[in-house]
Amino acid sequence: MKTGSNRLKLAILISGGGTNLQAIIDRIDAGKLDAEIALVVSNNQDAYGLVRAQKHGISTAVVDYRKYGKKLLPEIDKSRLPSQFAEVIERQRIFQGLPAEEIWDRLARLVLAEQEVIELLDPLTPELICLAGFMRLISPYFIEQYNKEDRYGIMNIHPALLPAFPGSDGYGDTFAYGCRFGGITVHFVDEGEDTGPIIAQATYPIWPDDILDQVKKRGLKLEYALYSKCIQWMAQGDLLVEKSKDGRSSVRIQDPKYPQFIEELTKQAFTR
Ligand code: GAR
Repeated sequence: MKTGSNRLKLAILISGGGTNLQAIIDRIDAGKLDAEIALVVSNNQDAYGLVRAQKHGISTAVVDYRKYGKKLLPEIDKSRLPSQFAEVIERQRIFQGLPAEEIWDRLARLVLAEQEVIELLDPLTPELICLAGFMRLISPYFIEQYNKEDRYGIMNIHPALLPAFPGSDGYGDTFAYGCRFGGITVHFVDEGEDTGPIIAQATYPIWPDDILDQVKKRGLKLEYALYSKCIQWMAQGDLLVEKSKDGRSSVRIQDPKYPQFIEELTKQAFTR
């Protein structure tokens, strides 16, 4: 176990109940995760995850993205946008197929909110930003603050087997499609929506009489175990990012126990 300053310093972004956040806190407390949480940020002041953090003495902050929405901010003050905003527009892949003015407007509003988050995070120098049920898009502006040349700095947990069912309702989409298996994915974040290099995945069965709630419950159990494990691999230096000839990045997990971990996790999910 690492102690004190050797622990991986996390900032965790949430929007809701924070059960993934809780799983991370519990594993840190149990000595199974060599990390510390410097700050929990929510875009939603009513997120129960904030209460969970506070109960454990973890600092919290709220950045209400709605205040940058058209309703409360009809006009955008261009002087408040970062100098590299034109490049941010060039690099973005989250708003596809929209008219250019619409992309400019959406991205500008997003970046204004993200500037607030970055101001909170900067003084804490987090080593990894964990998205744990954070239901807002992430712009290239935010990403460039934390993704460096050969090191990704933002991790996300997604409730589907990517690249299937990206977006905001992974369980609902998997279930509605009639899939016989569902899955969860932990991945690094890049400029697309849920497109970054996959770190690890786990699957669960969907049985004929299942209702969506059962499916979610099965998946969430996997999420809690897998997300913490991926963060621990990062803390141990076990995640190696490799670039293929076509420029795509992939992640190699160097922990020799990785297949065994996934096998045991999946076995539990298949036990009825
Ligand atoms: C989790 O299922 C997480 O995978 C999902 O939101 C839920 C948050 O639950 N994230 C996404 O859908 C991101 N696109 P929690 O707040 O209880 O951890």
